[in-house]
Amino acid sequence: MSKLIINGKNKLYGKVDVKSAKNAILPLIASCVLLDFEVGFLNCNEIGDVSVMLDIIKSLGGKYRYEGDTLFVDCSSVYIPELPCELSKKIRASVFLLGPLLARFRKVSAVTPGGCNFGERPIGMHLDGLKMLGAEVSGSEHLYLRAEKLTGAKIELPFPSVGVTENLIMASCLAEGETVIINSAKEPEIACLCSFLNRLGAKIYGAGTSRITVHGVKKLTNKISYFKPITDRIEVGTYMLATLNTGGEVEISGANFLHNTSLIKKIYNNTCKISLESDKIYLKCCGVGNGLGFIKTAPYPSFPTDLQSPLLAYACSLNGKTVIEEGVFKNRFAIANELKKMNANIYIDGNRAVINGTNRLHGAVLNASDLRSGAGLIISALGAEGVSEISGLEVIERGYFEIDKKLKQLGADITKG
Ligand code: EPU
Repeated sequence: MSKLIINGKNKLYGKVDVKSAKNAILPLIASCVLLDFEVGFLNCNEIGDVSVMLDIIKSLGGKYRYEGDTLFVDCSSVYIPELPCELSKKIRASVFLLGPLLARFRKVSAVTPGGCNFGERPIGMHLDGLKMLGAEVSGSEHLYLRAEKLTGAKIELPFPSVGVTENLIMASCLAEGETVIINSAKEPEIACLCSFLNRLGAKIYGAGTSRITVHGVKKLTNKISYFKPITDRIEVGTYMLATLNTGGEVEISGANFLHNTSLIKKIYNNTCKISLESDKIYLKCCGVGNGLGFIKTAPYPSFPTDLQSPLLAYACSLNGKTVIEEGVFKNRFAIANELKKMNANIYIDGNRAVINGTNRLHGAVLNASDLRSGAGLIISALGAEGVSEISGLEVIERGYFEIDKKLKQLGADITKG
């Protein structure tokens, strides 16, 4: 298992560039199963989860290639509606293929997906939604879905799940009649998927709201050569918090600040200067900030669960108290025990973390058990006194491209071990 070795207390200075969002590219790749031509996605990095998704596409009979940072995906030759077990177990996003494969082949077999390790991640809502479009589902660990045809339906989600909204949009694109998804997720990655599908000829209305309507079409026939996905708001947030935790001054290009308003509102005026341009965030830290008060993670546009661990890490070195309530996943505080090894003062009470900031974090031997807690550990290690060793780098590389190189360029003392 590879690791990162970080000698803390170097301020971050300079420029860093952020490319297409992991959580945008993954459903976009899945949606290519609906197409019988090749599409190029601009501005892409070969991050871990995307590589696994592409291996799954290959095992279904599809093709992909990179030309520079353009990823071309061609699913015209996909012929096996059967998700490969081992690969599917590696990423949660394999579940995004159920909808498009069902729409194309009227049947699909799969295993329950894997993904980052932070507790139970059920897929019942995906299956319930697909059933409402006409699928019959059998099996539990090994799933078999069949539908003579998919027919539009009115589907109310019990929770605005990102993946379920995406899966149902993809399946209903080619269903007969109208589908209405009520309480749909409003994340920018959903609007990105809808804008891609609409350019191909889908008829999706209401993306970015909690009511999405899809008028099924027979085929997506508008051939487009290229599409530019949105950039990674979570990666942007991670670099913002890393800058603040080291007391540095960084310009993040490729950042759409509108996608990070919940974070910007929290840190604005907290001993830092921020200036925002259409595709840039400039951040200058002007001293140790105060505790952040109460923050609850919730679906977009609220504070994102994916920035909860990075924020928790930052809160540990502020002056005063921060309380973070996790409102999306039941068990996403794995970072807390690791941060305690660095002298962090954190108390976990159910789905709440109470952090009493202290400016005296020291390096420690740490383990990244999931992607975002890994990002949080890096943030803490960068600001701590002394050397930290973070194992589980491959988990971090599932979603962050060359994070060690980018941080080194910003002046961090960081090496891969
Ligand atoms: N849920 C169910 N049943 C389901 C599906 C979801 O109970 O069938 C629950 C989940 O357990 C969770 C809540 O609904 O409590 C929300 O989960 P959601 O379905 O929205 O998550 P997801 O689609 O599996 C995506 C991102 C996650 C991100 C969440 C929430 C991708 C590939 N993953 O997951 O990203 O945390 O939305 O915003 O888009 C990450 O990037 O680190 C990451 C985990």
